[in-house]
Amino acid sequence: MSTVIVVGSGQGGFQAAASLRDKGFSGRVVLIGDEPGVPYQRPPLSKTYLAGTTVAEKLHLRPEEFFATSEIELVSGRVESIDRANSAVVLEDGTKFEYDHLVLATGARNRTLSVPGAELNGVLTLRTRDDADKLRSALEAAKDVVVIGGGFIGLEFAAHAGRPVTVVEAQDRLMARVATPEISAHFARLHEAAGTKLLLGKGVTALHGSGGAVESVELTDGTLLPADLVVVGVGVVPATELAAEAGLRVDNGVVVDEQLRTSDPAVSAVGDCANFPSVHARCATRLESVQNAVDQARFVAARITGEAVPYTPVPWFWTDQLGAKLQIAGIGTGYDHIEVSGDPAAGKFSVLSFMDGVLVAVETVSKPSDHISARRLLAGERAPTLEELRASDFNLKEHLKTLVA
Ligand code: APR
Repeated sequence: MSTVIVVGSGQGGFQAAASLRDKGFSGRVVLIGDEPGVPYQRPPLSKTYLAGTTVAEKLHLRPEEFFATSEIELVSGRVESIDRANSAVVLEDGTKFEYDHLVLATGARNRTLSVPGAELNGVLTLRTRDDADKLRSALEAAKDVVVIGGGFIGLEFAAHAGRPVTVVEAQDRLMARVATPEISAHFARLHEAAGTKLLLGKGVTALHGSGGAVESVELTDGTLLPADLVVVGVGVVPATELAAEAGLRVDNGVVVDEQLRTSDPAVSAVGDCANFPSVHARCATRLESVQNAVDQARFVAARITGEAVPYTPVPWFWTDQLGAKLQIAGIGTGYDHIEVSGDPAAGKFSVLSFMDGVLVAVETVSKPSDHISARRLLAGERAPTLEELRASDFNLKEHLKTLVA
């Protein structure tokens, strides 16, 4: 194979290109992205970069020289279409790149708020470095800050904003998409103690302003919250337009098989945009995480260079808020039983989720060694059962030892 084109230069796209070289791929590698500069990491944008303790250069995944020395052609531009009949991608300016294999790493984009006033000045979102820069300067001037969405992004913003903010969340608890109620409650306590005002179970009906600038947020119960900065963190949607227009199968992401091949075997998809059959989710799923983007990219690079095994790494996720590190191993969707190990009041504990008596996910708060043990246990041939873990008092490290012994 002589040319691999990677579309999207976020964490997944960058990793696919870099891993091809690590695996000894000697053909042409072209990495095309529509954001300026070298590929960078996004997780600090809503944490230390927002707080001003990480500088822009520290975000770079590699220095600029890396791309020249690794012979990775970094192209700045937007791919407009995929011409599958001629195995080529076409950029906005008409430039064409022919491929032998194409990797789609187009990621996701932020969901927009579909209420009147969402387009007012002072209504911002957070995904790119440019977004984070705008938010940082808006924060300096803002008086009343309202965050819409109590998921990872909204809460990380609230935790790193450097001042109390109000968070409006439609569900009756925080991070409901990914966390158990025990975790939601713990983080609600931390935020309230830090001065965050949490308004749970409240929707937004409109944003009001004057002179084009936002002034208030109207909630479903009629409350008007004063706001000269509104941060919208209401989830993401996969960027699938290119794939769909090219006739590839799309269903909540670009549909791929266990080898991460799309419905066209010359095209793979990785990261936030890919919907893949996950053994750990027990169904087809799309994951939004750095780990998934990096591992899938490495996997595809290995497959292109000749390795052929199904994609099976244990998914994991993390967030840092107010001195607490939440790490999630596995996917707990559909769990029917949980056990709490450790003391939430002491700020260090784990929540183990089970389905049909088998461990499916572990959330740890500031217990990194439990997280690592959980990942190892979930990666095993067979996940431990409730009975087995009960026998070791839900001590994951101890249970691991019994397996190794
Ligand atoms: N009003 C209030 N809350 C809303 C509304 C609304 N109109 N619409 C959605 N929400 C809430 C959801 O209930 C959910 O709790 O917004 C939250 C969005 O949370 P996530 O789905 O976790 O998305 P977000 O926080 O935007 O994170 C986006 O970035 O860091 C990554 O892992 C993170 O992949 C995720 C992505």
